[in-house]
Amino acid sequence: MRQLFRRKSLDRLVGETLEPRRQLKRALGPVHLTLFGVGAIVGAGIFSTIGTAAAGGAEHSGAGPASVVSFLIMAPICALAGLCYAEFASMAPVSGSAFTYAYATMGELVAWIIGWDLILEYAVGNVAVAISWSGYFQALLHDHWPDWLGVDFRSAFQAAAAMADASAKHIDLSTLDARVLRAAQAWHHAPHWLGVPIIFNLPAFGIVLLVTWVLIIGIKESAWFNSAMVVLKLVILLFFLVMGAFYLKPENWTPFAPHGWKGITSGAAIIFFAYIGFDAVSTAAEETRQPQRNMPIGILGSLGICTILYVAVAVVLTGMLPVAKLDTAEPLATAFTGLGLNWAVAIISVGALLANASVLLVFQMGQARIFFSMARDGLLPPWASAVHPKYRTPYLSTLLSGLLVAAFAGVMNIDEVVDLCNIGTAFAFILVAAGIIILRRIEPARPRGFKTPWVPWVPVGAILTCGWLMAALPVVTWLRFAVWLVVGLVFYFCYGYRRSRLREGTNGEG
Ligand code: ALA
Repeated sequence: MRQLFRRKSLDRLVGETLEPRRQLKRALGPVHLTLFGVGAIVGAGIFSTIGTAAAGGAEHSGAGPASVVSFLIMAPICALAGLCYAEFASMAPVSGSAFTYAYATMGELVAWIIGWDLILEYAVGNVAVAISWSGYFQALLHDHWPDWLGVDFRSAFQAAAAMADASAKHIDLSTLDARVLRAAQAWHHAPHWLGVPIIFNLPAFGIVLLVTWVLIIGIKESAWFNSAMVVLKLVILLFFLVMGAFYLKPENWTPFAPHGWKGITSGAAIIFFAYIGFDAVSTAAEETRQPQRNMPIGILGSLGICTILYVAVAVVLTGMLPVAKLDTAEPLATAFTGLGLNWAVAIISVGALLANASVLLVFQMGQARIFFSMARDGLLPPWASAVHPKYRTPYLSTLLSGLLVAAFAGVMNIDEVVDLCNIGTAFAFILVAAGIIILRRIEPARPRGFKTPWVPWVPVGAILTCGWLMAALPVVTWLRFAVWLVVGLVFYFCYGYRRSRLREGTNGEG
């Protein structure tokens, strides 16, 4: 029982990063880290889900032009968590991020739970991003891509059923959503094998494998690839802002908040996904020069840049079109489609592809490093902590994360995964914030490169606001989350509990 709550000291955690066989390359500075942060943050959220936040999906109960307020509410909530991450990352520059912080403060069992939970943020979040990437990719090809190789089996099955139902009721099929029509066609066009239609989201699968390969060949190469994509996606978002400013119709901003405070808060819960990613910067801590100084810059800097950008995009987007027209999978492109500016639509779509690819890159990097840290601590099989002799990257954990995410991206539906990612991330933020309060009590004198201000109020604020976000998620998401945690506990008691390096008892801690 005592082992479950045994803590691993920060000194030991940091010391283990120096083992030559498992040492990663320290190559990243503050600019790389800020770009990693922006790379992880700006993606499917601002290019896709902003439309749902404003228009409110099927219920049409969104924030409307007041989605600007939703963005402004969510920024300080994320900043509260960001301040906690910054303190930990500057103090414990270890690639396990929240997993490592929990190991040092709340003990092995909580650390395992958080490591397992982070799979929901990074791997499951990336399944959503890969599916969104595939949607933009197919739109850019003007649908010259076989429909049965661009969607998941379940969506195709449901769309075919919806279409059959609509024709039975003599409903005009052209009134159905374009995505539903395409998914239904996939069902009818798919080749069969042993009587089963073959339907698979190949672009979503392929982009994850491509990103995995980049991550394996080197951290510097990955940083370079990421920086290039981030600069391009920022340029394209600025293009959207400048072009959009010429087509603003101030009457679209009224009514400002059609569904009042409720619309604004439900919009904020959706927008949370758009902000997730600043915390992924902390997983690069072991590959950072002067992490005490550079980690806080990367985490808080990227959050600040993205907040300014997001608020500006929300103002322009809701000024260009009436809110009801924003409820599409690619609202930033839709804003120009109606104006007949197809070249602008193409530029925005390329921006979305780049944006989603860089989120994929940073999240895959984060997932692999968390597996790497968990394996180094003995909670996952040791091969997952192998470092490539030439590239100095955790290549086997990168490959494992890549194959898992690619396979699920090929067969899952995006709506199923976004909420799971949100609940997992909010839970991780809560545990990190609690860890700050605990560590200030148990190790008040430890040098901290960056100190979260106003402790305990900032962490308590993070805990309460993230708790509120979790509470706003649907029951089915809670059930999936609970099942996920139970599976994780079974795994822990069957493997990690017995194999933990802490159990070797080489250090008397906790
Ligand atoms: N913030 C990331 C995105 O919007 C997850 O794609």
